[in-house]
Amino acid sequence: MNRRILLLAATALSLGAGSLAMGQSLPPLEKKDRYKVGFSQMESNNPWRIAETKSFHDTAEACNWDLIATDAAGSAAKQVADVDSMIAQGIDVLFLPPREEKPLIPAVKKARAAGIPTFLVDRSVDPAAAKPGVDFVAFLGSDFIDQGRRVADWTIANFKGDKGVIVQLEGTTGSSPANDRKKGFDDAIAADSRFEIVASQSGDFARDLGRQVMETLLQAHPDVNVVYAHNDEMAIGAIQALELAGRKPGEDVLVVSIDGTRDALQAIIDGKMGVTVESSPFFGPLACEVMNRYANGEEIEHWVQVQDRIFTQDNAAKHIDEAY
Ligand code: AHR
Repeated sequence: MNRRILLLAATALSLGAGSLAMGQSLPPLEKKDRYKVGFSQMESNNPWRIAETKSFHDTAEACNWDLIATDAAGSAAKQVADVDSMIAQGIDVLFLPPREEKPLIPAVKKARAAGIPTFLVDRSVDPAAAKPGVDFVAFLGSDFIDQGRRVADWTIANFKGDKGVIVQLEGTTGSSPANDRKKGFDDAIAADSRFEIVASQSGDFARDLGRQVMETLLQAHPDVNVVYAHNDEMAIGAIQALELAGRKPGEDVLVVSIDGTRDALQAIIDGKMGVTVESSPFFGPLACEVMNRYANGEEIEHWVQVQDRIFTQDNAAKHIDEAY
C-alpha cells in the first residue's frame, strides 16, 4: 500500500467508517517540499487560454511545483486521456479546466479514485453528476451567470434605440461558461421589452468561427443592432464580419462581450465595442494558495469565487497594459 492510499485510509478512518462507505471523504494532500502538479489545459487557440497556462507556469517555481501541463487541442476525449496519463505519472494534485460539463466527469472521478485531490479551475462540470467536497475539492472561478447578467444590464442601460435586435454568439456547446453566460444574459434582457434575441448560435469561443457565424447570421438578420458574444475572441470576429458587410460597430451595432483581453480593450478604446465584463485567466497564484490551504488541513469552500471587473470607455485605457 503506498503512502497516498495510507493517508486516504487514515483520513477516512478519522471521519468514520460510514463516511468511507459512502465515499464522502476527499483525498488528503500530504505536506511536502515539492509537489508534482498536473494542469490539463483544454486548448491553446486563444489569448485567454494562453494566459491561463502561462499563469500556471509562472507560479510553478514560487509554489514548489514540478508542473506537468498538457494541451488537449480542443478535444474533450484528449483531455480525458491527458488526465489519465497524469494519473499514471503519479501527480500529487490535479488542476482541471473541463472543456465541457459532462465528458470530463469520468476523469474527475478517476482522479478521485486514485486518491488525487482535484481542483476544477475556471470551468465546472455538471453538478448533478460530480460534486465539490465529494468528487473534487472545489471549483475556483467566476460567476458566469452573473457575467451574462452584467452584460445584459449594461446593454439595457446604454442601448440608445427603440428596438434592440440581438444576435448571440455562444461559447463551446456543453461548456459551463456557454450555458451560464446564456442564462444570465437571456433572463436579464427579457426584463426589457425593447429587446429580442433573433439568433443564438455557437462560435466555440473562437475568433474565426465567431466571424464565420456572424457572416451567416448577418445575411439572415440584416437588421441586427446588438451583438452579444460569450467571449472577446468571438466579439472581435463579429466586428470583422460586421465591417466586411459595411456595418459600423460602435455606431450602428452595439457589441458587448466577456473576458477583458487586450484586443477587446483596444476595440473599446477605438469605439467599436461597448463593454466587456472581466473573466480573469490568471489562476496560478490562486491555485497555489488554495492548494497550500488544503495541504494544511483547512476545509476549502466548495466555490472559491473570483471577482470580476467591468471594462468600458471609462477605464479601458487605464487597464490595457495589464491585459493579455
Ligand atoms: O472558461 C472561460 C472561457 O474560456 C473564456 O471566456 C474564454 O475566452 C475561454 O476559452
